[in-house]
Amino acid sequence: MPPVPGNSARPADAAVANDYDSFAEAYSAQNESSLLNAYYERPAMLALAGDVAGRRILDAGCGSGPLFAALRDRGAIVTGFDKSAAMVELARRRLGDGADLRVADVGSPLPFPNGEFDDVIASLVLHYLEDWGPALAELRRVLKPGGRLLVSVEHPFVITLMHVQAGREPSYFATSNRTEEYSFSGQSALLSLWDRPLHAMTGAFTAAGFRMTAISEPEPAPAARELFPDQLAGKPRFLAFLFFVLERG
Ligand SMILES: C[S@@+](CC[C@H](N)C(=O)[O-])C[C@H]1O[C@@H](n2cnc3c(N)ncnc32)[C@H](O)[C@@H]1O
Repeated sequence: MPPVPGNSARPADAAVANDYDSFAEAYSAQNESSLLNAYYERPAMLALAGDVAGRRILDAGCGSGPLFAALRDRGAIVTGFDKSAAMVELARRRLGDGADLRVADVGSPLPFPNGEFDDVIASLVLHYLEDWGPALAELRRVLKPGGRLLVSVEHPFVITLMHVQAGREPSYFATSNRTEEYSFSGQSALLSLWDRPLHAMTGAFTAAGFRMTAISEPEPAPAARELFPDQLAGKPRFLAFLFFVLERG
């Protein structure tokens, strides 16, 4: 999620960052109804996924499972994993004991056999990693030949614009760390993200053996303009995240 007004840049070593266990409830509650997640990222990802009935899908960095639930409702056979045990626990509460949920790190070897999934969806998770190589190699390994990887990340142009607006020197061409304080449902949280230019993203996908079939800069869901008039006022188009559909070569 891009920083919202009021969020502030912090030095990278200021405190423990990305400790989703410590703000799982607060993040999950906000994600449930926010413009960025409920009315933008999630509907856009579901639209890109299309008809998923009968497909085996891995939800990488599943959080508390809202996408998992929506995919399952559409007839997909879903497995989810997240690095945060607290997020996985919230997902279990939402999805029930029968849901296939694991605690795992997308940057490490994953507990799934080769060629297990038709699709892998990585919503808003890759931007926590400095090096996408090991994660993409693992996600490719668990995909069937011809399987799809769907990715959403913070849009690099939006991040650059944010630096300019904050009076900071923009560093579009660098892969650089940005550690910032966010507020989720009123609870403060430190996130450490790795920004990179568009060519570094597409280069990482190609180097990992993926072919890009779509790049998408979607609109929020139609209901968003009525529900979030202040956030969308004066914006005929809205841009926050960048979406990719990739095919395993
Ligand atoms: C911004 S939330 C997105 C959650 C969910 N994908 C969604 O879109 O609703 C990021 C999630 O990625 C998880 N995460 C961060 N780094 C991870 C990693 N290295 N491996 C697996 N999950 C990670 C966090 O614990 C958190 O649940």
